[in-house]
Amino acid sequence: MTLQIHPLHPNFAAEVTGLAINRPLTQTEIAAIEAGMDRHAVLVFRDQPLTDDQQLAFSRNFGTIEITLARQMAKPGDTRLREEMGDISNLDANNQLRARDDARRLYALGNRLWHADASFRAEGATYSLLSARIVPGSGGNTEFADMRAAYDALDAKTKAEIEDLVTEHSIAFSRGELGFAEFNQEHSAKLNPIRHPLVLTHPVTGRKSLFLSAHIGGIVGWPVPEARAFIRDLTEHATQRQFVHAHQWRVNDLVMWDNRTTMHRARRYNDAAEIRDLRRASLRGAGPYVPQALAAE
Ligand code: OGA
Ligand code: MN
Repeated sequence: MTLQIHPLHPNFAAEVTGLAINRPLTQTEIAAIEAGMDRHAVLVFRDQPLTDDQQLAFSRNFGTIEITLARQMAKPGDTRLREEMGDISNLDANNQLRARDDARRLYALGNRLWHADASFRAEGATYSLLSARIVPGSGGNTEFADMRAAYDALDAKTKAEIEDLVTEHSIAFSRGELGFAEFNQEHSAKLNPIRHPLVLTHPVTGRKSLFLSAHIGGIVGWPVPEARAFIRDLTEHATQRQFVHAHQWRVNDLVMWDNRTTMHRARRYNDAAEIRDLRRASLRGAGPYVPQALAAE
């Protein structure tokens, strides 16, 4: 088997064939995947049945696993998977469909907004790796948008205007957009805004990208309504169809993406009747990229 990378879209996203990822990889294979990520930002591996252990072992080739905020905030006993696995499913701890008004279901609906994972954390995230174990009969695609192509397509004036802007990200903002506010008092420190540059330069390729996310609620030094209106404009620009690739899930797909250079969102499906069991590992980023606000500010 030879590892091959086949582009899926003119700008980004590619499928990797000729590699089984449920076993230890060689340094050459790891380097080829990293180079593929630098170039394509989203890589799809099909027909890769994985246990949770195998998914975590594959993920650790590329960095350190982080524990998701959803998991940190979950009520004891309301979890189905081990701590390192992000549960991107509509199932509860007993493998039953979550009720319509289940708080974790409502929290998870935030994934329908265009976002980058963990952008509400100072360290951010590099890659996320999502594996499909059960997929619904229809709907439930994941869409990806290429933030490098979106940056490149901005006019020179806008590029100059945004070059040094710093945004503020909080999970409270993205959830608030959907009217979800059931955060427990004990987690309030996790809701504090985190600062990130609006333009990121990729550490390996040097390419610039728009670092957008539904978690952005402000731009440092800007009045809030002006900041939010501008972020909406940029997001609308960055998610035009020419920058988007839709992944239609099959069982045993693994998709990995770079949260520094892409955004993604979940699409609807009939989650009251059909099971969708996806499991995610995400890797800690190298942030903070800019100084954070002082507590008293
Ligand atoms: C995620 C996510 C989207 C989806 O796993 O981080 O946003 O389609 N998933 O489930
Ligand atoms: Mn996500």
